[in-house]
Amino acid sequence: MSDVRLSEPHRLRIEQVLSEALAIEDIAPSRLHEAMRYSALAGGKRIRPGLVYASGAALQIPLLPLDRIAVAIECIHAYSLIHDDLPAMDDDDLRRGLPTAHKAFDEATAILSGDALQAFAFEWLSEPIEGLRPDQQLKLIKVLSVAAGSRGMVGGQAIDLASVGLALQEQALETMHAHKTGALINACVMMPSYCSDSIDEKQRELLRRYADAIGLAFQVQDDILDVESDTDTLGKQQGADIAANKPTYPSILGMAGAKEKLRLLHQESLAALDDFGHEADLLRNIAQFIVQRIK
Ligand code: IPE
Ligand code: IPE
Ligand code: MG
Ligand code: MG
Ligand code: MG
Repeated sequence: MSDVRLSEPHRLRIEQVLSEALAIEDIAPSRLHEAMRYSALAGGKRIRPGLVYASGAALQIPLLPLDRIAVAIECIHAYSLIHDDLPAMDDDDLRRGLPTAHKAFDEATAILSGDALQAFAFEWLSEPIEGLRPDQQLKLIKVLSVAAGSRGMVGGQAIDLASVGLALQEQALETMHAHKTGALINACVMMPSYCSDSIDEKQRELLRRYADAIGLAFQVQDDILDVESDTDTLGKQQGADIAANKPTYPSILGMAGAKEKLRLLHQESLAALDDFGHEADLLRNIAQFIVQRIK
């Protein structure tokens, strides 16, 4: 099994900047702030922040704007998980080894904490950021809002819910995955590239190819783990996709087909980085982590 690890300094860094950025429980409305902190700070692999720092390292972007981007994206991600787990969506009780937000609090508080985390992400990106011009910040806000909205993650969630019980063709499944999971992962890799004027379109195109491949690979592995892993390791209910009759890569291509797809996507992601040197090693490491991860 996997012994690939994500960068520990980057994980510690996002835990700290995220905790400092979010309002504390003492500030009213305290139950809402408590719920926001509960979901955003409850662990998780922090792959998306890891990608932000890795892309930033490949492009030599300073850490301060990367912190901002990483916090904003992780807040969108946390909100997406809170809403994904609601009874009206996947109706799950367990997330990151803890009761889901609507179980730990109540449904209304869970919904509101997701809403507020989403709003906070954009507030955080619109505060002045040292080293960035307002037009660069506006571009970051635009990229993240498109990735999070109806043409990105939320659009993918809508396709997911509309696909329950359907035997999708592979292409339709790919479209769903590229939206619900790929769009935000793409934003992690691309947003750092808008923090500098010296990145050219060719570099961006290569990073986009890398991001598209690992974004899809991430959800293919999520689908595989739903079948092959166990609830304790995952920190979320194993078998939830099968129970909810969701179309997944294993259900459509078979387990061997899903694993072959994963292998090809991994190769594709590495090939996209061929023109980069060691400065892209963190990106290569995350690609390997994504296809080998066990949770
Ligand atoms: C889970 O994402 C939701 C999907 C997009 C499949 P992660 O597996 O990154 O969740 P955490 O943040 O590590 O808990
Ligand atoms: C969730 O996909 C994707 C988003 C939250 C946007 P899943 O429903 O497969 O995620 P898990 O398996 O519950 O983490
Ligand atoms: Mg879901
Ligand atoms: Mg789910
Ligand atoms: Mg899943």
